Amino acid sequence: MGICLVTGGAGFIGTALSALLPEHFDRVIAVDNLHPQVHPASGRPAALDERVEFVRGDVTDAGMWDTLLASVAPDVVIHLAAETGTGQSLTEATRHAATNVVGTTEMLDAFVRADALPERIILTSSRAVYGEGAWQDEDGDVSYPGQRSDAMLSSGVWDFPGLTPLPFASTRTKPTPTSVYGATKLAQEHILTSWCLALGVTPVLFRLQNVYGPGQSLINPYTGIVSFFAQRAKAGEVIPVYEDGEIVRDFVFIDDVARALIAGALMAPDAAAGSAAAPYDIGSGEGTSILRLAELIAAHYGAPAPAINGLYRNGDVRHASCEIDEARAGLAWSPQTMVDAGIVELCTWIDQEVQK
Ligand SMILES: NC(=O)c1ccc[n+]([C@@H]2O[C@H](COP(=O)([O-])OP(=O)(O)OC[C@H]3O[C@@H](n4cnc5c(N)ncnc54)[C@H](O)[C@@H]3O)[C@@H](O)[C@H]2O)c1
Repeated sequence: MGICLVTGGAGFIGTALSALLPEHFDRVIAVDNLHPQVHPASGRPAALDERVEFVRGDVTDAGMWDTLLASVAPDVVIHLAAETGTGQSLTEATRHAATNVVGTTEMLDAFVRADALPERIILTSSRAVYGEGAWQDEDGDVSYPGQRSDAMLSSGVWDFPGLTPLPFASTRTKPTPTSVYGATKLAQEHILTSWCLALGVTPVLFRLQNVYGPGQSLINPYTGIVSFFAQRAKAGEVIPVYEDGEIVRDFVFIDDVARALIAGALMAPDAAAGSAAAPYDIGSGEGTSILRLAELIAAHYGAPAPAINGLYRNGDVRHASCEIDEARAGLAWSPQTMVDAGIVELCTWIDQEVQK
């Protein structure tokens, strides 16, 4: 028990956590600036569990932190607040760096000023820190090919020739972000870890794959390919699929992510103490091609077959999947909802939302 503070607590992952955290903490406080790109209405979101106290505030605002921490000393912080648009981060880099990097340092400075440090801070980092990650050649040699060039993509060379992608694993894969968003998430990891270890606070880092499920934004055009596809298919439209359809992602269901974060929040102190433990990779453990995702969703709605269009976006990562062995062992956690079942749950929720 104790007090849990959730930054960005009114968002997709925050509202999913809000139903679970009050079972484990005496008080749960969500701080969120209700970013208009995520929240069409300006009031407290209906999806935020009523047992959670809501504070509207911006994590980059030092005064907000001082006012908040004058009246509350959280034991556990779950730091979710972030700008999350990967593509958008290339054209609005300062905005992303301000919330993700400066927002994190403002929070840490405020804990020092208040002279009340939490016992642990949980960070939701991202698979974006890996960029394309590591690939392997026929001889088994591993390399980091970096980012696909425009010359490759414009001539339809989607993969790195002669190389096969390896799943990400934080114990093995070197972070090589290829987006400003990914770079800011990696900066968050480094800042938080160094600060925590110096001051005796336990950092618990999660690198989330593509989270999807009921509750995700249906209006944010910069995130959420699953909800975008679902809305196209529901309207009877053809889902457009980029490149050759073989871009791969690990789609991890929201409830599985929420359970992993709760496990991190409740981990026995000695299991996490003083830890510079490797970040936990959180995914379903299975890669899914975008074509397969589109086919599943189209079939669910009886929509026409998806159309591979050969278009591409510079900066898109070709292959993202992960190993979840560390998370299984360290968190006594395993994913429960694989993509076929999760899509049905998401589409059912979208159908209900659209009727409201
Ligand atoms: N959803 C995913 O697929 C995914 C994948 C990897 C990592 N993550 C990470 O998980 C965390 C939560 O993501 P989400 O999917 O719930 O996103 P979300 O956009 O639904 O939620 C983020 C919340 O942060 C709030 N916010 C934004 N800027 C803020 C600021 N300056 N001050 C206070 N609040 C602010 C927004 O209003 C929003 O409610 C983020 O840190 C994100 O980087 C998410």
